[in-house]
Parts: sequence; C-alpha cells; structure tokens
Amino acid sequence: MAATTGAQGKGLIHTAACLIIGDEVLGGKTVDTNSAYLAKFCFSAGINLKRIEVIADDESEIVEAVRRMSNNYDFVVTSGGIGPTYVVFFVRCLDELTVGLRHDDITYQSIAKAFDLPLKQHDAAFERMKRLSKPHPSQPNFDWNTPSAALTAKKRMIILPYNDSIADEEQVIFTDDQLWVPVACVNGNVHILPGVPRLFERMLDGLKPRLLPRLTDPEGKGVLRILISTPLPESAVAEYLTQLAARAEPKGVKVGSYPRWGKENNTVTLVGRDVEFMESIVPEVEKAVQGHRVAVEGEDDPAQADPKKTEVA
Ligand SMILES: *[C@@H]1O[C@H](CO)[C@@H](O)[C@H](O)[C@H]1NC(C)=O
Ligand SMILES: *[C@@H]1O[C@H](CO)[C@@H](O)[C@H](O)[C@H]1NC(C)=O
Repeated sequence: MAATTGAQGKGLIHTAACLIIGDEVLGGKTVDTNSAYLAKFCFSAGINLKRIEVIADDESEIVEAVRRMSNNYDFVVTSGGIGPTYVVFFVRCLDELTVGLRHDDITYQSIAKAFDLPLKQHDAAFERMKRLSKPHPSQPNFDWNTPSAALTAKKRMIILPYNDSIADEEQVIFTDDQLWVPVACVNGNVHILPGVPRLFERMLDGLKPRLLPRLTDPEGKGVLRILISTPLPESAVAEYLTQLAARAEPKGVKVGSYPRWGKENNTVTLVGRDVEFMESIVPEVEKAVQGHRVAVEGEDDPAQADPKKTEVA
C-alpha cells in the first residue's frame, strides 16, 4: 500500500529527514556534503533533523525509504538520483556554472511508484529548460524540435511524479528564475533535489521562503549555540559538565563536549533557547574549563596548523 494520506505538507514543520540516493556515495566515489548542508539549514531554521540515510540507486530501496520518511517526518528532502556527472545535460546557473545531470537516474520513477502517482511531462519546466539550458558543446547539432536521443534524455528530467488533484505550484516548485530544474514535491512533504551540491544548496535555500510560515522558530532565532574553546582534555571537564548539564536541563539547555581530533583545544557547547540563562553562565563555564568563548570552532587555532577551519554554524 502506498502511504498517501494527503495530510502531509500543511502543518508546522517540527521534524525533518534526509535521504541521500547514490551509488557514487556508497561506492566511495563521491563524498556526500548535501546532508551536512541540510543539517545546518535545519538547525538555523529551528527544524529538528531526525534522520539521514544513504541508500543505493535501487527502486525498492527508494520506495521503502520515501514512504516511511514521508509518514514519519514533516519535511523530507531527497538528494541525488536525478544527479551528477555524466556529461549528458547542461544546466546554466546565474554564475554560468555548468554541471552535468545524468539522464538515467531512477529517483522520479521510484518516488512516483512509492505514492502510486503517474509520471507526467511538465510543460512549464520544459519551456524553462529550453530557455535556460544550452546544448553541450559535443552536441552542436542539437535541436529542441528534432527527435533525438539527447532530446529524449533531456525530457526525462522534466517528467515528474504528478498528482492532478494538487495545485501545480505545490508540487512543482521553481526556486529561482535562473534555474529550470524544479523541486518536485510529492505527497506533500517529499522534496526531490539533485545531488550536485551547488544545485542542491541553492535550491534548498530557495525553498526557505515557502517554509518560513510553517516553522515553529523561524530563522532559528530562539536557538543559540555558544562555543567555548578549552585546552583541558574531556576527562578533566567531564565532572563539571555533568553537573552543569543537570542544572541547565530544566532550562532546556543542552551541554555538549566535542574533542577535536588532532587539535590542542576542545569545544564545549551550550545549545538552547533561554538566551538570558545561557549568557549568564558563560563566565562561569569559561572559568571552570579554563577556556574562552569563540564564534567559530577552531578560530583560536594557530593559523599554520589548521588551514581548513571547521565551521560550526
Ligand atoms: C492526490 O492528492 C489528493 C489530494 O491531496 C489525495 O487525496 C490523493 O490521495 C492523492 N493521490 C495520490 C495517488 O497520492
Ligand atoms: C586554547 O584555549 C586557550 C584558552 O581559551 C587559548 O588561550 C589558546 O589560544 C587556545 N590554543 C589553541 C592552540 O587553540
């Protein structure tokens, strides 16, 4: 049975899940960065990201995962499987970035199957594609009006799962004027994004204005994360942090400790919404762990020893 309650996608967004579809990731050929981007996006939007799964480009895996996630979480994002790097298709972004999208991926068809939906060619998306994409240099004779294998491949990318009973703009979302690739939204809450990181990030950011009215803590304004860099090893601060966590818990504030591999200093974090309480304990925590507050993890590392700073948003 398909999970088609039709009730998803209306209420407040409390929880999210991320489905990374990609043999390339599982095969070690690509490193997934999209889930990390989504995690930061959710954190700053006050959405509780509950799950990230990486699965193969396999229909039954995709069907099972999207049904379950659509049922269990308010906001579901899939990445890949309409995605990267066979040079078949070119998309033009604002900055003239061109990326190849692969035509043989199975995400759309698998997700359509998961929710018993037909696949339909989306004419508005096709028009945008014609307007915004330029043919690959290897296809100088390509013509939008002459049938060819290349044209068929391109068209597959705008043949989307479609429910005739749902308003078009709720299921085919154009996130920006310069991109023809839409976010297909299925069963009210499953958002299908490409795996190409530049596109994924940009399209996810483009969804934000639509999500805002449904966020419980828009812009994550109420969620504050304070970072304190400490030269003490975790074992030396554990006892203090345990008693601090007990005191902070009734205020809804979480205390964390993050050893940093190969680095001199570790990070203690305070995460919560009670800004007043959190600010009031900073001096005490700094003193107890012999550290100091930093804006970004690693900002006090000696420059040459750590060229690549790790940001904690
Ligand atoms: C299509 O959308 C309607 C309205 O939300 C819903 O009741 C129906 O179950 C959906 N159909 C499928 C196959 O998902
Ligand atoms: C470690 O933390 C101490 C105390 O906050 C700070 O003075 C020092 O610069 C930091 N050192 C390194 C290497 O990060």
